Amino acid sequence: MENTDMKTIQWFPGHMAKTRRAISANLKLVDAVVEIIDARTPMSSRNPEIDSLTSSKPRIVLLNKCDLADSKVTSAWVNYFKRENVTALAVDCKSGKGLNKLMPVLKATVLKNLMEKRQKSGMVGAPVRLMVLGIPNVGKSSLINRLAGSKRTKVEDRPGVTRTKQWVKLQDNTELLDMPGVLWPKFEDQSTAIKLAFTGAISDDILDIETLAMKLLSFLAENYPQSLKERYKIEYDESDSGYVLLEKVGKKRGMVISGGEINTERAAVTVLDEFRSGKLGRITLEFPSVSGE
Ligand code: G4P
Repeated sequence: MENTDMKTIQWFPGHMAKTRRAISANLKLVDAVVEIIDARTPMSSRNPEIDSLTSSKPRIVLLNKCDLADSKVTSAWVNYFKRENVTALAVDCKSGKGLNKLMPVLKATVLKNLMEKRQKSGMVGAPVRLMVLGIPNVGKSSLINRLAGSKRTKVEDRPGVTRTKQWVKLQDNTELLDMPGVLWPKFEDQSTAIKLAFTGAISDDILDIETLAMKLLSFLAENYPQSLKERYKIEYDESDSGYVLLEKVGKKRGMVISGGEINTERAAVTVLDEFRSGKLGRITLEFPSVSGE
């Protein structure tokens, strides 16, 4: 069987070309695209090529995993997209929160012209067809399962959309392509890759685990000091490096090796796991610029 573990997937130019072709072919079959991104990393979890890839179709953006993101910042991102003339909705595909707004919002905004055209030409009964697009691990299969109301889709993290097409019938005379398009994550710079590794969207071995946790702790100390203090009950000051913070966490948790040395590797695994599962609170890693530019 093909290994579909996200951590082992490698994106090569050949994969990307195949993905582009598959997405273009499937786009011809749908009325709109549902682009799913991570509310904690709305920029880094977005493949920049999606704009040109899907330029021929109306699109809605779902800021998924909003249960893990800072709600104020998520609202700021929704407004940011609005300023960019993109309709965005905050959702949680694990619980289904926010998804009841998807079809009404789609029909009232993104698909307004199509709906009006169909009304005029007596085609109101035609189904609205959608496809889901997003990078691995962002929540595509969770979304489809939620919308379809059953566990019918096992999404494979392999390039493109290759299986036989099936349509899932949803409410409101809507049909969803039962196979999302898997976009490749794009690491234009190291900071993008690091944020994707923090959330577990890509393998965390892009850096050693301690370096990754140190960077996360420094970010938290600066942007979410309360979360850090509440979770780990540590005191620190601005001059503390990521390493010092990691040692403080390890010490507090009793992660000591023989000789009294702190097991910073165990502490690093703990910090990353706890961040990813939301135990550190609702945290967003990227903030929209105030001007929206
Ligand atoms: P994909 O198809 O885009 O690759 O993503 P998938 O739906 O498989 O979701 C990847 C992981 O993200 C899953 O966790 C899933 O439960 C989780 N997830 C999806 N949407 C949300 C959300 O809105 N909030 C939260 N908190 N998590 C979400 P997993 O640990 O891989 O699987 P599982 O143990 O949850 O089944």
